[in-house]
Amino acid sequence: MAQFKTKSLRNDPAGIVQTVELWRAGGLVAFPTETVYGLGADACNDAAVAAIFHAKSRPAFNPLIIHVADLETAQRYAVFDDTAQVLAQTFWPGPLSLVLPVLPDGGLSKLVSAGLETVAVRVPDHPLAQKLLREFGGAIAAPSANISGAISPTTAAHVRAGLDRRINAVIDGGACRVGLESTIVMPKDGQTHLLRFGGLPENHLSDALGRKLSTASETPQPLSPGRMKSHYAPNAAVLMNQTSRPDQGLWLGFGADCDGADMNLSPDGNLITAAANLFAFLHQLDALATAQNISTIAVAPIPNTGLGRAINDRLNRAAAARDPQLFRMRNK
Ligand code: TXA
Ligand code: MG
Repeated sequence: MAQFKTKSLRNDPAGIVQTVELWRAGGLVAFPTETVYGLGADACNDAAVAAIFHAKSRPAFNPLIIHVADLETAQRYAVFDDTAQVLAQTFWPGPLSLVLPVLPDGGLSKLVSAGLETVAVRVPDHPLAQKLLREFGGAIAAPSANISGAISPTTAAHVRAGLDRRINAVIDGGACRVGLESTIVMPKDGQTHLLRFGGLPENHLSDALGRKLSTASETPQPLSPGRMKSHYAPNAAVLMNQTSRPDQGLWLGFGADCDGADMNLSPDGNLITAAANLFAFLHQLDALATAQNISTIAVAPIPNTGLGRAINDRLNRAAAARDPQLFRMRNK
């Protein structure tokens, strides 16, 4: 692993210029979006995109999302059918990624799509991300800025904790507002497939389209290559749906009935607050568990509606049995 001195850049004109210069030179700079921090690189530069996979220790079959300033820029890289147009016009900028046919002449590195004929595109709704993408002008490939399989970062400090010395810089835009990755949708053959629950609740999408979306069970597996089961994993084991504090573990609460919880995602049961807190609280509890030699994090039940679907999806993956190879890579 190449060793960098990872710079901390500020959200000011000098920080923006340095970020864009590093991107133009093929460098890796982590930057904030409204969902989570992304590890960004020039999506048209093969070496830069390869460096993302290397820095994250990410299995190379997992394709990346490209980030652009607006719909017009997105149309240089992907083909928008009517459904895609409606969704982009309604929800961009915002926490929605669209998986669309890639335009062969767009110049994207083949590594971005990891061999697929589609590319995932989004326009982030974060003032600093917008300034950076506008200044850069093209497409930035960016997975979440964490080592593959680890908890996603919602602050610049989280990025540093995972990727220090592996990347050129991180630019600090404060804590992410949404706190969960984007919802991923793929319009195809007259259907709209929901590939990943995320920061944009499903009912907003179906309301905009006037019809339901197809979800995982109806969606052929190869359409959603990134759905590795063990993901977002803290070092401690995660137990779901726990209504009381375990004897030998930490308890992450949700709602009013969680007296004695070590942390509470939202004491008044607000799913938006819970989503924004989720990854930050998992980072904190995992650090506490490591410091106190505790092996379990129990999580209170979370309603499976709206953003709760995405929160439970992330927690279920955190709770899933680990892929030992992934863990060897992470702990190297
Ligand atoms: O909110 C987000 O989406 C964040 C921020 C940084 O934008 N990014 C993010 O990226 O979560 P990442 O790489 O951690 O997750 C990307 C997901 C993966 O599950 C991947 O498989 C899926 O997007 N994906 C990317 N391109 C795809 C494609 N062509 N077809 C199907 N799935 C795709
Ligand atoms: Mg990720």
